[in-house]
Amino acid sequence: MSSTPVFASPVPGAELRQAGEQDCAALAALSRSAQSHPWTEGQYLDSVRAGHSCWLLSAADGTAIACCVLMPLPDAVEVLDVVVSPKWRRRGIARTLLSALCRQLPEHVESVLLEVRAGNTAARALYRGLGFREDGVRRSYYPADDGAREDAVLMSLPLH
Ligand SMILES: CC(C)(COP(=O)(O)OP(=O)(O)OC[C@H]1O[C@@H](n2cnc3c(N)ncnc32)[C@H](O)[C@@H]1OP(=O)(O)O)[C@@H](O)C(=O)NCCC(=O)NCCS
Repeated sequence: MSSTPVFASPVPGAELRQAGEQDCAALAALSRSAQSHPWTEGQYLDSVRAGHSCWLLSAADGTAIACCVLMPLPDAVEVLDVVVSPKWRRRGIARTLLSALCRQLPEHVESVLLEVRAGNTAARALYRGLGFREDGVRRSYYPADDGAREDAVLMSLPLH
């Protein structure tokens, strides 16, 4: 998954590349700006060091637009993180990025897996639109606000 996929960026001049350790502070800042339970710099560093594919889409001026972290498994790939900066949303960036990354997976990869918060209607619609099916629910899997818990929905996209 290391070669850069063919990616028709919806943002002219944007660059897609693999993030390295030097990018993890910017990734964490993007995540903080974009979601209620953001990844920390340490989590991105752990992913880079573990050999996950951390893709970073940057604007021509270098600011982070989006990222996507993929973890390889023996016969599947798990999407660990997808984030688009709030000011760049609803332009097809997440859909185009995920499609491109899924298209360039090696032949032995049979499916793409992920978990999503049950209340994340935007992400669930994004994944359904890409062909993911909902396989089940993990009750009270995620920490939520005020000590509450939120279900995880397990989704998968068969590739063959
Ligand atoms: C979910 C997220 C990645 C979508 O990014 P995006 O670039 O705005 O998504 P796209 O423009 O590619 O949208 C593709 C489709 O997803 C769905 N979608 C995206 N945002 C939506 C929203 N706010 N409400 C409903 N559906 C939405 C729509 O079906 C959309 O297609 P359409 O615009 O033709 O209707 C973005 O909202 C985000 O970063 N959220 C915070 C982080 C997050 O929740 N990540 C997922 C963790 S599992």
